[in-house]
Amino acid sequence: MTPRTAPGDAAVRTVTSTDGGTLTQGDAVGFLRALPDATARLVVTSPWFTGPFTASSTDPTSPGFVKWLDPFLTEIARVLRPDGSLVMELGCCWAEDAPVRTVQNFSAINSLLAGGDWHLLQEFYWYNPGFLDAEVEWSDRRRERFEDCVSMWFWLARTPDVPVDVQGVRGFQNHLTRAYGNFLVLGDSTADDHGPGPGPGDVPGDPSGERARAHAERFPVALPEYFIRLLTREGELVVDPFAGTGATALAAEATGRAWACNDFSDEATGIAQRRIDALRR
Ligand SMILES: C[S@@+](CC[C@H](N)C(=O)[O-])C[C@H]1O[C@@H](n2cnc3c(N)ncnc32)[C@H](O)[C@@H]1O
Repeated sequence: MTPRTAPGDAAVRTVTSTDGGTLTQGDAVGFLRALPDATARLVVTSPWFTGPFTASSTDPTSPGFVKWLDPFLTEIARVLRPDGSLVMELGCCWAEDAPVRTVQNFSAINSLLAGGDWHLLQEFYWYNPGFLDAEVEWSDRRRERFEDCVSMWFWLARTPDVPVDVQGVRGFQNHLTRAYGNFLVLGDSTADDHGPGPGPGDVPGDPSGERARAHAERFPVALPEYFIRLLTREGELVVDPFAGTGATALAAEATGRAWACNDFSDEATGIAQRRIDALRR
């Protein structure tokens, strides 16, 4: 599906497309505004955990983050079908100035639920030991706290009655992901990613491809694929406004779903474009 361009959203540009979907680059609000009302069955996405803010011990609930997220959530609610699902990764964080946690993620979920329009259908825990904790002062350097190796995924909807195929994902597993109820385990292989993983040449100044690969391992294709299989049927629209290196697009392509994905970073969309374009070869 090709997003229509909303007036004033010239900043959102098409990067590449397939028969199934379009990758755009621009601010996520502009991208979402260009999508029609009530068309997406699933929004599966991983925004920055703290938004554009630095997590601080004096501001552990970060009302600024809740405000930052709000316009995205308003547009997501408009774009979703009334019985569509939002599956969003939002973890707790370390404050920069002291070894304490910030809970901007819980603030955001509380604020959504308090508004009365959303329900929390279930939360998932993703075991991701590789990248959540890289270079963290309190665990890696000073060793005063433990490695952060689990992030949270919140499954939200405006109605408790969303279509769901629990049987369809029973036994879902590959090298990357195994599901034990609401606990998802990440292995250390990218072998099962559909299409090529990011590699050398994708990120300037990254000749070994290490930085590019780190991007992909934050969000293996199997992860959105799990939620796509659980919550959508073939042909239905899946949206990711913070699409990074394109895992959601690749998962939607692999499962025959329509998709619309977007990110504002040159680096991430460059990697996503290469991975999506490689599917055509
Ligand atoms: C945690 S990463 C997503 C990783 C992604 N799931 C992947 O597979 O690579 C968050 C992404 O949000 C993007 N982002 C942050 N703020 C944005 C905004 N206002 N509009 C669009 N993209 C944004 C960043 O560029 C980053 O790629």
